[in-house]
Amino acid sequence: MDSLVVDHPLAASLLTVLRDERSDNAAFRHALRRLTQMLIYEAVRDAPIEEFEVRTPVAATTGVRLRQPPLLVPVLRAGLGMVEQAHALIPQAQVGFVGLARDEKTFEPVPYLESLPEDLSGLPVFVLDPMLATGGSMVHTLDMLVARGATDITAVCVVAAPQGVEALAASEHPVRLVTASIDEGLNDAKYIVPGLGDAGDRQFGPR
Ligand code: PRP
Ligand code: URA
Repeated sequence: MDSLVVDHPLAASLLTVLRDERSDNAAFRHALRRLTQMLIYEAVRDAPIEEFEVRTPVAATTGVRLRQPPLLVPVLRAGLGMVEQAHALIPQAQVGFVGLARDEKTFEPVPYLESLPEDLSGLPVFVLDPMLATGGSMVHTLDMLVARGATDITAVCVVAAPQGVEALAASEHPVRLVTASIDEGLNDAKYIVPGLGDAGDRQFGPR
């Protein structure tokens, strides 16, 4: 599986704000939006484009646009903090929603929402979830997408654990990963170490 770790001083400083336990909900959401912008830039870097004619006030020239804007799929709750920024960058994108809550005893994802177009064949998909820990939630999401015909999926995650990266590779789904960091590992509660804590709680408060 291809993975890209975005290596940029501004991304690293935004990730530091997210990691810092002193960042309050508002500061966390703000840094997440800005870091999402950088991750989406990198996720789109090699996307196919098409050319079309435009006129400036002075002359005709050739412009470009994405040939096929991706479907954006935030994984609720934490992915909600990424979708507005991604959509601002790719305003033509459609948006689908997946809701999963990890059972904190079994660490298995418990699905509660699947709101996706019926047929995803031929449509690139960007899954937005800040955290890739065990990978259970992301693999469950990929299962949903592939069942609808998706063949070109990008997982956009702020922080990934090596175990999550391995789970994506082992799934053999057509996915690549764009992330700001692959961290050391997981603790006994399956939180990413050093990670940034619970990305849903840090944006919206405890559930
Ligand atoms: C978090 C995170 C991922 C999942 C990652 O969501 O946003 O979806 O955990 O863990 P995994 O890789 O081990 O599956 P959570 O289930 O805490 O729900 P929330 O976004 O509503 O807080
Ligand atoms: N979910 C989170 O929000 N954070 C982690 O570190 C692991 C799962």
